[in-house]
Amino acid sequence: MAWSFRLIFAASLLLTLLNLSSGSKIGVCYGRNGDDLPTPEKAAQLVKQHDIKYIRIYDSNIQVLKAFAKSGVELMIGVPNSDLLAFSQFQSNVDTWLNNSVLPYYPSTKITYITVGAELTEAPKNTSSLVVKAMKNVLTALKKAGLHKKIKVSSTHSLGVLSRSFPPSAGAFSSHYAYFLKPMLEFLAENQSPFMVDIYPYYAYQDSPTNVSLDYALFQSSSEVIDPNTGLLYTNMFDAQIDALYFALMALNFRTIKVMVTETGWPSKGSPKEKAATPDNAQIFNTNLIHHVINDTGTPAKPREELDVYIFSLFNENRKPGLESERNWGLFYPGGTSVYNLDFTGKSVTEMSSGGNGTNSTRTSWCIASSNATEADLKNALNWACGPGNVDCTPIQPSQPCYEPNNLVSHASYAFNSYYQQNGATDVACDFGGAGLKVTKDPSYDKCIYMTAGGKKTSAAGNMSAAPSTAIPIQRHTTLVPWIAVGLFSSLLL
Ligand SMILES: *[C@@H]1O[C@H](CO)[C@@H](O)[C@H](O)[C@H]1NC(C)=O
Ligand SMILES: *[C@@H]1O[C@H](CO)[C@@H](O)[C@H](O)[C@H]1NC(C)=O
Ligand SMILES: *[C@@H]1O[C@H](CO)[C@@H](O)[C@H](O)[C@H]1NC(C)=O
Ligand SMILES: *[C@@H]1O[C@H](CO)[C@@H](O)[C@H](O)[C@H]1NC(C)=O
Ligand SMILES: *[C@@H]1O[C@H](CO)[C@@H](O)[C@H](O)[C@H]1NC(C)=O
Ligand SMILES: *[C@@H]1O[C@H](CO)[C@@H](O)[C@H](O)[C@H]1NC(C)=O
Ligand SMILES: *[C@@H]1O[C@H](CO)[C@@H](O)[C@H](O)[C@H]1NC(C)=O
Ligand SMILES: *[C@@H]1O[C@H](CO)[C@@H](O)[C@H](O)[C@H]1NC(C)=O
Repeated sequence: MAWSFRLIFAASLLLTLLNLSSGSKIGVCYGRNGDDLPTPEKAAQLVKQHDIKYIRIYDSNIQVLKAFAKSGVELMIGVPNSDLLAFSQFQSNVDTWLNNSVLPYYPSTKITYITVGAELTEAPKNTSSLVVKAMKNVLTALKKAGLHKKIKVSSTHSLGVLSRSFPPSAGAFSSHYAYFLKPMLEFLAENQSPFMVDIYPYYAYQDSPTNVSLDYALFQSSSEVIDPNTGLLYTNMFDAQIDALYFALMALNFRTIKVMVTETGWPSKGSPKEKAATPDNAQIFNTNLIHHVINDTGTPAKPREELDVYIFSLFNENRKPGLESERNWGLFYPGGTSVYNLDFTGKSVTEMSSGGNGTNSTRTSWCIASSNATEADLKNALNWACGPGNVDCTPIQPSQPCYEPNNLVSHASYAFNSYYQQNGATDVACDFGGAGLKVTKDPSYDKCIYMTAGGKKTSAAGNMSAAPSTAIPIQRHTTLVPWIAVGLFSSLLL
């Protein structure tokens, strides 16, 4: 008996240690705003089948809690905004809720977080002013049940809590929300609870596709955005947004509070205007996200810091109002089939995202000269690329591999592509006043090899690392009016 007990004890201690050292976690949000969704039991089976270990729900629905009993899945449950009034008014309301809705299913259903209210910066002031009192009452109820060490209390936010997020080092909370944020941050620090935030690079891109490159939003930019105050280099929007929060917290001297991402993701479908909402982009974003998180990469300001992230969302939810994309954030169709493949363990991710063989991949693109562009535009743009654009135009000179065919479109294509690849392969780097055209087929031929992303990074836009903070946010390398005729290299052409 004693021996086997010790064995079991040792084994479980080992497991606990493994668990502790396993670092950052990936979870999935299980929203239920659809009329065609599977039962909670079926959903729980799907979750287990796909090796998902962490689930966030938005309420404390009893069917859902029961469905995850003994599943090994850890649950984050929620108190909806509509309950904040009752939860803030009387402690007994919260005690009753805990007694009736949580304790009967605990610990068989492993609950580890309670979110009290969600994205309150988007709610009326009379609701947000209730949140801290409600959080305190939930903590008090947990203390009475002896669970305050096992279940953490927090509240989620949109990035709207910040009045500034760029550059990340200038991240600052909006003073509009000080009335509830300040006491909330004190509560979080005191109870070692995380600051929870919903982060959507998709919307940052969608709202400003000219300023934010798709590659930067999808974790696959080959160029960096520099924070002029800290010198930190950002290769993706996600990290920049997280660090903006860390800097905002540090500015208020809350140095111990950790950030947790309670929602992020990418829609697989949208209205015709939402061009970036595709299954490919959703797969790329989430795959790269998982890779980034599982590897404990951390962020530039907090390297190797653990960061738990929940992907939104488990299912496409057909009753969500708003744009077409709103109903298409799911990883699964209601029937349980995958919208696209995703490995939640991050194990097979390496091959997918390193993709040296990007023959058929959306992540490899080239920039060539449009056959529609006028000769004058092409000449100007070519001169610019080979001159101030810093492109090495040797290969298009006589007797070099890309000289033939000796015409303007071919020479411009080579130069445009080199400029594009050297400058982060962003849409704006293939603009050339409309003379550039992005293609997904490798234009290389014979011995004329077109550069691909990650090619050598000469900073065409000059030395932006020394530039003042007036630099356009998001892209470090920006296209400076490329169609200014320089004429320096005209002699090369003909
Ligand atoms: C909650 O349960 C505890 C323990 O069973 C009990 O002492 C307490 O009165 C209950 N509270 C309410 C409000 O039901
Ligand atoms: C907030 O104010 C609005 C309008 O004055 C009211 O309808 C609502 O019930 C109030 N909510 C709370 C939680 O007090
Ligand atoms: C892009 O950035 C510029 C300069 O910061 C800003 O003036 C402009 O409003 C931004 N455009 C969009 C669509 O956000
Ligand atoms: C994980 O991170 C380490 C160091 O941060 C890096 O060297 C390694 O390549 C990463 N692993 C993968 C699979 O990207
Ligand atoms: C790319 O993949 C194709 C098909 O899987 C294979 O035939 C080809 O050799 C690969 N090329 C490289 C450079 O790995
Ligand atoms: C390339 O992608 C297309 C469209 O996504 C697909 O139909 C085709 O089978 C893919 N080809 C390879 C070799 O993977
Ligand atoms: C050229 O212009 C035509 C008509 O405006 C357009 O349909 C076509 O896509 C353009 N081709 C390129 C390569 O830009
Ligand atoms: C860029 O600036 C850094 C530091 O100011 C300097 O060391 C470097 O030589 C500069 N590079 C170029 C290409 O001007």
